[in-house]
Amino acid sequence: YFLGIDLGTSAVKCILVDDQGKVKASHSEEYPLLQPEPGWAEQHPEDWWKGTVASVVALLAKASVAGEEVAGIGLSGQMHGSVFLNSELQVVRPALLWCDQRTAAECDFIEQAVGGQAELGRLTGNKALTGFTAPKVIWLRNHEPEHYRQTQHLLLPKDYVRLQLTGALGMDVADASGTLLLDVAERKWSEDVVNRLDIPMEWLPPLFESNEVAGYLLAEIAELTGLKTGTPVVAGGGDQACGAVGVGVVREGIASVALGTSGVVFVHDDSYQMDPACRLHSFCHGVPGKWHRMGVMLAAGGSFQWWKNHFAFEELQQAEAEGRDVYEFLTALAESAPLGSEGLLFMPYLTGERTPHPDPKARGGFIGLNLRHGKAHLTRAVLEGITFGLRDSMELIKASGIEIKELRVSGGGARSLFWRQMIADIFGYPVITVNSTDGPAYGAAVMAASGVLQQEISDLCERWIETVERVDPNPQRQAQYEKYYEVYQTLYPTLKNTMH
Ligand code: XUL
Repeated sequence: YFLGIDLGTSAVKCILVDDQGKVKASHSEEYPLLQPEPGWAEQHPEDWWKGTVASVVALLAKASVAGEEVAGIGLSGQMHGSVFLNSELQVVRPALLWCDQRTAAECDFIEQAVGGQAELGRLTGNKALTGFTAPKVIWLRNHEPEHYRQTQHLLLPKDYVRLQLTGALGMDVADASGTLLLDVAERKWSEDVVNRLDIPMEWLPPLFESNEVAGYLLAEIAELTGLKTGTPVVAGGGDQACGAVGVGVVREGIASVALGTSGVVFVHDDSYQMDPACRLHSFCHGVPGKWHRMGVMLAAGGSFQWWKNHFAFEELQQAEAEGRDVYEFLTALAESAPLGSEGLLFMPYLTGERTPHPDPKARGGFIGLNLRHGKAHLTRAVLEGITFGLRDSMELIKASGIEIKELRVSGGGARSLFWRQMIADIFGYPVITVNSTDGPAYGAAVMAASGVLQQEISDLCERWIETVERVDPNPQRQAQYEKYYEVYQTLYPTLKNTMH
């Protein structure tokens, strides 16, 4: 078996995958998200570690699998989070997470210090965004100099877990791409950027490709978890790269839409490509020697969840009474309203936005309300607004001339046929779901299998991942949506000034 560990923002999920690619069992353990100030988001790395140990122990028991049967371990994790460690490899302060928005001033500083946005883009493939890691390092230096002084090592969240498992410091190039300190084109640390920001080079760990073995399980951890001493642990990747591997987005021509709290449109690139204005992220892929670009919407499923939590009491009660999923009720309600929600549009920028509007102060809204609009219209408008916002990312990807043949949709939102059809109609591509539904954890297990069995990631994906269902766009609906999308595109530029 191969163990895939995905260190998410709300929980860690562990899965066991056999040597034919079948999932044997999975187990998740939750941990808290700290929000000490509005717009801040932090977690205790110790909570990640405790959750991981508990999850591995429960998984082995649930699956009745002995530790000796686990041949390799792969890690996936929430990206960009800053784990600051001292010389003893102890945590200096809670990690600042990908969804933390406190670093707007630090982003401005970085662009200036590096010599402007174009120069930063040339050196890293990306622009300074509040979620990325380098601004968090500068924030620490500006606001907590004592913690900065104690810091000797910088890791990303899942690398902290690998450190506990193996005792070894390391990071893969896919996840390192989101630090803003990596020369993404060359797959190595950018000494230019690191030096211009005056961050000590020694803080940065050795780099690996995602399927390279980056350490071996320590004896004391074997005792703690029931796994075997010396089990190889591959470097793994950020959750987006792992999620893409997990649904087989490892060849040109395939793109994916991942509908979690955030929403991501992701495309595989055989060669390094970047959007000159850096509206898309250009990152190393978890497939050695390959790259990817992606657009990230911060509140995709998050917007729908907000709608559910605050406005769906009746549906919640009804669903509970019938033992059904409340999201099923809500998508059915949305479906009862006409396409385009009779002119009602929703802007999904509830926690600021990244792509295509990199603006921590962007805000959401319903535009175009009239007396005919009821709950069904508003529910449908939320789903349509999220999907239009994701289409913005796809437009940026298409603008580079890449030909996309199919879209693979994954994450919680992919369960709804209604939403998948809406994506097919709004994007204009066939939408495919695949048999592997464990997302990034599955991708991490594939990376482990690739490293241990010495097989290409793309070969394993070819053999293990199959299409389950295909939904084709309907030309008539496509044309109708197109009109609403044109109006949607004008909303943020028009309303931006009301949000600041
Ligand atoms: C990607 C990103 C999020 C987190 C979520 O750039 O910030 O998808 O990785 O876990």
